[in-house]
Formats: sequence, C-alpha cells, structure tokens
Amino acid sequence: MSCTTESHAYVIFGANGNLAKIKLLPALYQLHCLGYLAPDVKILGCGRTAHARDDWRDEVRKTLAEAGADATDCLNGFLQRLDYLAGSLNDATFYQALGNWIGAGECARNVIFYLSVSPELYVPVTVGLADAGLLAETNGWRRMVVEKPFGHDLQSARDLQHALNTHLGEEQIYRIDHYVGKESVQNLLVLRFANMILEPLWNRHYIDHVQITHAETVGVEGRASYYDGHGGATRDMIQSHLLQVLALLAMEPPVSLEAESLRDEKVKVLRSIRPVDTAQLTGHAVRAQYAGYQQEPGIAPGSHTETYAALKLYVDNWRWRDVPFYLRTGKRLKERRSMVAVRFREPPMQLFQGTSAATVHPNWLLIGIQPDDVVQMEISAKVPGTETRTRQIVMDASVGNPGERKADAYEDLLLDVIEGNRSLFLRYDEVKAAWNVVDPVMRAWADDEHPPLQYPVGSWGPKAANQIFGQAGQEWRQSMGCNGKADFLPNAAG
Ligand code: BG6
Repeated sequence: MSCTTESHAYVIFGANGNLAKIKLLPALYQLHCLGYLAPDVKILGCGRTAHARDDWRDEVRKTLAEAGADATDCLNGFLQRLDYLAGSLNDATFYQALGNWIGAGECARNVIFYLSVSPELYVPVTVGLADAGLLAETNGWRRMVVEKPFGHDLQSARDLQHALNTHLGEEQIYRIDHYVGKESVQNLLVLRFANMILEPLWNRHYIDHVQITHAETVGVEGRASYYDGHGGATRDMIQSHLLQVLALLAMEPPVSLEAESLRDEKVKVLRSIRPVDTAQLTGHAVRAQYAGYQQEPGIAPGSHTETYAALKLYVDNWRWRDVPFYLRTGKRLKERRSMVAVRFREPPMQLFQGTSAATVHPNWLLIGIQPDDVVQMEISAKVPGTETRTRQIVMDASVGNPGERKADAYEDLLLDVIEGNRSLFLRYDEVKAAWNVVDPVMRAWADDEHPPLQYPVGSWGPKAANQIFGQAGQEWRQSMGCNGKADFLPNAAG
C-alpha cells in the first residue's frame, strides 16, 4: 500500500472510556463510511485494559452495532483500521511501545493524539510522549486534542497551558469544545453573517436581552467523581459551551473564517464581559441542586456542587453595553432543550395598546440548538375580523430538509483536526478569559456557607432563577414558539 499525504494515525488515550465509545469511535466510523479517511489511516486505542487487538475490535463492533451500525462492508472496513495498545499512561515503557507502533506503521508519520482521559493525566501523557520523542515534528506533523475541562479554574488552566507549551507549539494543540462543533451552533455564524436582515438590529438599540439555555433531563450518569469534584454546572457547561455560544452571538464580523480571525473576535467578546458583581451575587447568579443529588452514588454527602446555574452577564462594548445576556443550564430538568432566545425592544409607541387586544408582545427570535434545529421569529399580526386585535404569530423554519443527514459535532471536529483547521477549537486566551468570568462567582459560592437552592427533578429549576431578570414581566423562555399556538407563548393574552 502506498502512503497518501493525508496518511496519519489517530491515537486515542482512554479508548475504553465513555467518550471514546459514545462519541469518538462512532464519529470516526462515520468519517470512514463517508470516505473522509484515507485508506491507510490507522486508529490506535490505548487503555489500561489488557485487550488483544481482535477483542477490542469485537468490543467496538458491539458498541457501533448498538448505536445502529449495520454489519456491512463499511463496518468491517472500519474495524480493519483498529489496533490496540495496553499499558499504564504513567509508565515510560508504554510510550516506548507506542513509539515502536508508530515507527512500524509504514504510513503513520503524522499522528493525532486524543486525550480522552481524566484531566489529571493530561500533563503526564504529554510529558511521557515528549520524553519518548513522539511530539517532535521532524518527519510529519503531531497534533494533540485536549478535551475540556481545560483546568478547573484560572490558575490550574495557566499551569496546564504552561506544561503543554513546554512540549508543544500552540499550532499543535486542539482544545476541543464539542458544543462549537454542533451544526446549530455553527449556524449562528451563518445566520448572522450570511444574511443582511439581522445585522442592523443586532445591537443595544434593538435588542432588549438575550437568553441562552442548555437544559438536560439526564443527571450525572456515572460521572460523579468528575462532576462532584471538578465539575458543577458553571464549570462543566457555562465556562466552556455557553460562553462560546455567547461569544458567537455577540462577536463582531470576523475578517475571514480563518482560525485566528474568528478567535480574535471571540476573545474580544469574552474579555469585554463585565466582572460579575459578587457583592450583589443573588441578583446576578443562581445556583441550585436537584433533589436527590446527594444520594447519587459517588456524590460527597453535604456536597455544594451545583447541578443548575444561571448567570446574568453584560458585554461592555459599543454594541452591547447594558444588554443582559442570561445563561442557564441544569441537569434533570423538565426537557432536553438548548436554545437561544433573543428578545427585541418594544416599538417606541404602542399604537395598538388601546385596542381590545390589550397586550402587544415583543418580538422574539428563537434559535433551537437541540433537539430542534429551527429558527423562529415571533411577530405581531392582526387577528382576522372587524375589530383591530393583534396576536403573536410564529414564522417557523426547520434548518434541515427532510432526509438530510445531520453530522454529529465530533465528526466535524475530528475531521478538522485531520485537516489542520483550528477555527472551531479554542485558543488559550479564550479559555483564560472564560475562566476570568466564572472564577469570581465560583469563589463567592465556595465561601458561602449556605447550601445551593434545591429544585425538584423534572422541573425547570429553582423559581429564584427568574429573580436575576430584575424586571417585571421578564422571565426565562421555557419553550420555542409553536406554530402560533398562543399557549406556548410567555405571558400569552388569552
Ligand atoms: C459535556 C458536559 O461537555 O456536555 C456534560 O460535560 C453535558 O455534563 C454535555 O451533559 C452536554 O452536551 P450534549 O452535546 O450532550 O448536549
């Protein structure tokens, strides 16, 4: 077999872990079936479990079959790419064996190392690879994908960055945030910058506030030690995913889609976020825990880790000064729903206020991230009939057409690593700026002797989360509009 220029090896550390099983291997499988992987690309799983290569292939076959893969040529072809290396990531002999494996591969001069392991191992693996000479780009490229969390606060992120930078150039590091790879999140850029209709309105003169919601029905699902120790809703979701969504919504048009242009604009937004006023914390931030969290296996008794968090943030720049951005996320909530809701200001005069319709609703733009990839605009219109009455109607468009395949975020991102495209990966200054936003809040909560609020499983979180709006009549949008059915609208007039 002759090697191609795209030849490489994908080395997955933590190959038996949850992320590898449910996301990375299925994504690579899809890339294989769609023809994105060159014929000579090899995938090496590394883990502590002592599998023989064929046992691991069988495991992967089962995992992919459970996820719906048919026993086709495509699956068989994919399995042929897989190899496995067992060992301890703290042991120098493992890296020698890995070096031998890379050296033995005819075509594996280019290597991607994917750190799908516990964050404590990021530095030992990097040092192990460096000591074995496996990060040097003497004969082909070497890239490292670092999963979130990138540190658990600003200081630990700095330390991690320092350790990585000692052995890797910035252009070798791919800090992944899978949320940015979601089609609907990438679509935010298209909606904003491929259209003329929104941009003139996209500022403090026309927008009253913005809500960003990520609601889940799942709980900690076997990740108790990570979540309770280093996670919590603010670190796990807001510091990374939701601040990225905010940055994409609020950024200025980039010069181009090239990585540095995009990241320059995102980091400007993140750095413009006004420090949260921790002296008035309850007006800006709410934390809560679902009832029963402390009884889950692996959760420390009396834990104050929040499974729900809501923040009010301001972007102090020319475009957004004084427009609140409300971010919230929670586990075990009523619905799985992620969306952006943009509420526009009211017209300067309410001509229709005195009519029998009485209430005139503000306009909303709703962008569904998941499960519905939709764009909806709520506008007022006249109710047919002799009286002048208004009601709100919904212009509702699904982003995909029937039958169109939606790529999983990891497919896009794993392909970007192969292609050396870092646009959707985070630069260190973005990560640092995001920690700067959440760190003071986390510290204030850590000093607070009161436990987080509680909310019932299956609810929309604590009622107190509406307090951060601080304005009568404003509250969280719980659902998307629904084809003009008034009962789905907030404060709907009967
Ligand atoms: C992960 C968090 O980064 O994102 C999880 O660690 C969370 O706690 C998940 O459940 C949400 O992403 P998605 O794509 O499953 O909605």
